[in-house]
Amino acid sequence: AQKSLKEAYKDYFPIGVAVSPRSVTGPEAELIKQQFNSITPENAMKMGPIHPAKNQYNWKDGDAIVEFGQSNGIKVRGHTLCWHNQTPKWFFTDSTGAQVSREELLARLKQHITDVVTHYKGKIYAWDVVNEAVPDTGKGIYRESKFYQIIGEDYIQKAFEYAHAADPGAKLFYNDYNTESAVKREKIYQLVKKLKDKNVPIHGVGLQAHWSIFEPTQAELEKSITQFASLGLAVQITELDVSVHPKEHERRERKAGDEKSVFTPEMEQKQAAHYKMIFDTFRKHKGTITGVTFWNVSDKTTWLDNFPVPGRKDYPLLFDQNFKPKKAFDGVVNF
Ligand code: XIL
Repeated sequence: AQKSLKEAYKDYFPIGVAVSPRSVTGPEAELIKQQFNSITPENAMKMGPIHPAKNQYNWKDGDAIVEFGQSNGIKVRGHTLCWHNQTPKWFFTDSTGAQVSREELLARLKQHITDVVTHYKGKIYAWDVVNEAVPDTGKGIYRESKFYQIIGEDYIQKAFEYAHAADPGAKLFYNDYNTESAVKREKIYQLVKKLKDKNVPIHGVGLQAHWSIFEPTQAELEKSITQFASLGLAVQITELDVSVHPKEHERRERKAGDEKSVFTPEMEQKQAAHYKMIFDTFRKHKGTITGVTFWNVSDKTTWLDNFPVPGRKDYPLLFDQNFKPKKAFDGVVNF
């Protein structure tokens, strides 16, 4: 019989997947139990869904996911405590609609992180504490988010300190995408180095790994893994998928209508080769890489359907629309 992902990688790292409350009760649940030993709530623990209004928490979806994990021996990764997206407007405004002060926003951030991390204390092995705080281009290392504009750069440090105080046993990560671009890699390195130098409780860097069959190269990927690890940090792959479409910057140069929503044999071949290279590289960095999580279960429903191009379907995962393993699966489990 074919090995499962979690069996194949038992001596390396847990294999995770992003889930919604629907995927843990519906037909996907069996596949999740068979293949994966870690789960990440795709949306349920983000600020908006879990903390929709002041002093009001919605624990239901997060709890259902944690409960599914616990009753099936599957670890849970938490995502995410502080992000500029999916954060409700109320967070930054007072009752008159005016922007809150630095002190007030820090107090709200502390309350939020303390409440959420405490609620799941001991049940979540790693948290993405701060997500996507670094811009893709430009000079600075800080994204011009509301958190940065109102609080200043120390919101990042504070977020890690609040999370650590609430659950000292959880591993704390800085998480971002586009981490293989030379410019952004350097910015993230500067950011996490500053945190390490100040003894901020950060334990690792999460590479989201929203890649495509055209990128990254093995050299780029290895450079990111080794550069972050050189700071004494763990590296986790937190949101892996391999789109069959070119990324935006390459796409702009192509003619409209060039792209098809079908999964061609050529795409399948390229994707299998790319996934093989990616996992060969992960295994090479055993010990440094302490987790690999896919962003969604199968090509049946992926967040990349209609994103960033409306009407376009994508096929970025190891299981097809009928939950059957694709060609890429073979190269990942047979080594
Ligand atoms: C995505 C979810 O998959 C979607 O369902 C949601 O509509 C938007 O967010 N980087 C992240 C993830 O850190 O939280 C994002 O997840 C994908 C990009």
